[in-house]
Amino acid sequence: MPHKPRKAVFPVAGLGTRFLPATKAIPKEMLTVVDKPVIQYAVEEAIEAGIEHFVFVTGRGKGAIEDHFDLAYELEATLRARGKTAEIARLDASRPAAGAASFVRQQEPLGLGHAVWCARDIVGDEPFALALPDMLIQAPRGCFAQMMEVYGRHGGNVIAVEEVPHEQVNRYGVVALAEDLGNETHRIAGMVEKPKIADAPSNLIVSGRYILQPEIFEKLATQKPGAGGEIQLTDAMIALMAEQDFFSYRFEGTTYDCGDKIGFLAANVAFALARDDIEPKFRLILEKLTGPR
Ligand code: G1P
Repeated sequence: MPHKPRKAVFPVAGLGTRFLPATKAIPKEMLTVVDKPVIQYAVEEAIEAGIEHFVFVTGRGKGAIEDHFDLAYELEATLRARGKTAEIARLDASRPAAGAASFVRQQEPLGLGHAVWCARDIVGDEPFALALPDMLIQAPRGCFAQMMEVYGRHGGNVIAVEEVPHEQVNRYGVVALAEDLGNETHRIAGMVEKPKIADAPSNLIVSGRYILQPEIFEKLATQKPGAGGEIQLTDAMIALMAEQDFFSYRFEGTTYDCGDKIGFLAANVAFALARDDIEPKFRLILEKLTGPR
C-alpha cells in the first residue's frame, strides 16, 4: 500500500467578496453552519481520515482562523471553573494538537494553484490531502476517509468528483473519464478548468477534495495563468497527468458550495436537520415558513 498522506492543506486566503458585508472583518471560512465555522467541518473531515498535520494557506485579515484552532486559555479555564465539561470536550475534539497546525500566507491573490504552491515547504516530499473548505460535504463517512481507501488501492493522485446540472459546469473544474476501475473509481482521461458549457467534456466536476503527489509543486512552480487570469491547480494537474496516474472517485455524500449564498443557506438547513437536538423544532419552523405563500 502506498504511503498515506499525513498532511492536509486548506487554502483559506480568499477575500469572500460574495458575502460582504459579513466578511468585511471576519474571514469567510469563519461563517457558521449551525454552530461551527465552515473551515472546521473540513478540518474534522481530515481528522477523521487520520490526517496529522494541518496546513492553512491564509492571507491578511485571516487571524481569526489561527485563533480558532488554538487553545483559548482564558475561555477554557473559565469553562473548567464552571464545570462545563461538555463544552470543553467539544473544543478539545476540534483542535489540532500543539505543533500540528501551520499557517503560511499567500501574500497575493494569484489563484488556487499559487495558494497550494505556497504550502510546498511545509508539505515537503510526501503525498498530501487538499481540501477547499467552501465545498462542505455532508456524508455518512467523511469524503477524505472514503478517498483514503481509493488511494490505498490505486496510489497516484485521487480527485473527488460529482455530477452537477450541465448549465453549472462553467463554474468548476470538469473531468473526462477513462477506464472504470470499480468502486466508483475511474482513471481520468482529461480535465479542464471552467470550460464554456458547450465545450465541457462531461458534467462531472472536481468537488474540492484531492490527494496529490508532491510533484504537483514542481508543475505549479512554472504554471502560467489560466482561466480567469489565475494560476490554476487544474492546469498543473493536467501537466502532471503526463507522468502520473490520476483517478476520479465519485464519493458518497452531498456537497453544499458555501462559496455561494444559496449553497451556504442550504448547508445550514441540511446540517440543522441532521442534528437531533435541533431538528424537531427547526423542522416545524421550516414547515411554517415554507407552507403555501
Ligand atoms: C476551484 C477549482 C475547481 C473546483 C472548484 C470546487 O475553483 O479550481 O476546479 O471545481 O474549486 O469548488 P474556485 O471555486 O476556486 O473558482
